[in-house]
Amino acid sequence: MEKNIAVIKGDGIGPEIVTEAMKVLDKVAVKFGHKFNYEQLLMGGCSIDANGVPLTDETIERCKASDAVLMGSIGGNTTTSPWYKLPADKRPEAGLLGLRKALGLFANLRPCVLYKQLSEACPLKKEIADKGFDMLIMRELTGGLYFGERKTEPVNGVMTAIDTLKYDENEIRRIAKKAFDVAMQRRKKVTSVDKANVLDSSRLWRKVVDEVSKEYPEVTLEHMLVDNSAMQLVKDPAQFDVMVTENMFGDILSDEASMITGSIGMLASASMNETSFGLYEPSGGSAPDIAGQNKANPIATILSAAMMLRYSFKMDKEADAVENAVNRTLEDGYRTGDIMSEGMTLVSCSEMGDKIAERI
Ligand code: IPM
Ligand code: MG
Repeated sequence: MEKNIAVIKGDGIGPEIVTEAMKVLDKVAVKFGHKFNYEQLLMGGCSIDANGVPLTDETIERCKASDAVLMGSIGGNTTTSPWYKLPADKRPEAGLLGLRKALGLFANLRPCVLYKQLSEACPLKKEIADKGFDMLIMRELTGGLYFGERKTEPVNGVMTAIDTLKYDENEIRRIAKKAFDVAMQRRKKVTSVDKANVLDSSRLWRKVVDEVSKEYPEVTLEHMLVDNSAMQLVKDPAQFDVMVTENMFGDILSDEASMITGSIGMLASASMNETSFGLYEPSGGSAPDIAGQNKANPIATILSAAMMLRYSFKMDKEADAVENAVNRTLEDGYRTGDIMSEGMTLVSCSEMGDKIAERI
């Protein structure tokens, strides 16, 4: 098959990690007889530098014309980078939020797996880490606080900032359906996370998720408050299969979940619309402190490319091959700095890409 992939390398470690994912994809193409055409596009800080804005119409149009988007990371150091002197809607993050909205990517799938080879890197107690875990966070991505109206203005002489958390029932229903659909292919359990003891948006969330659950009698549904969920994630992560939640809760809990897998450098993600079109990016940030040093962990980006093969291109065998190659590379003891432990072999970002590509 021939596929056109829009590539947004982005800022910080983005270019390094995406280059490794492309190396692995090229190996997949050779091995399985496909052709992947890449078109590189700018978004985030690099687009601000080149075009004055974090996201151009051209980038949106080229992404829409592609079969899928592969992305690295965007943004810089929020205290030192000149990008953060700009108004909020001109900063790198506004580009990413705008692109997700423009492409209708409302469902963000973040699988969190504790690889047995990495239980040493897991910060949890040994008896918890030894149980392992395999969960998927289904984060709503185009609604809630990140897209609600916001303003900062004086109210009765006092400077006041307002953000709005709004969800309508249709937005909740479509993400709930995605969560139940995915759960049907997994262990058939959905944990819906909200703050229904306080927020109206959460009470509507709970009601709609309950309704959707009636269409999936085989799936067990539980509701959990977000503060309790944060606690349960470190106490007993093995209890979770699919966790579905609104935008900000999902942003926060997915960082927590990634850390207990050993490193945020391991966490892949897929952002999907109603069809099989998606944008694939690691869940971690641009890590400006280690950018350009060939130190970053490219595994999350490589696993994101595997998700692209599986979900957008329906190439299951190829996706399995990438995931197995990652597994075998870890088994063979290769580690980037973030997941390094005693007795293992420390490798650079590009060496990690080589090791994985060799094992396809
Ligand atoms: C993420 C990131 C983004 C988000 C930022 C960069 C806007 O934290 O993908 O989790 O909050 O969605
Ligand atoms: Mg985040």
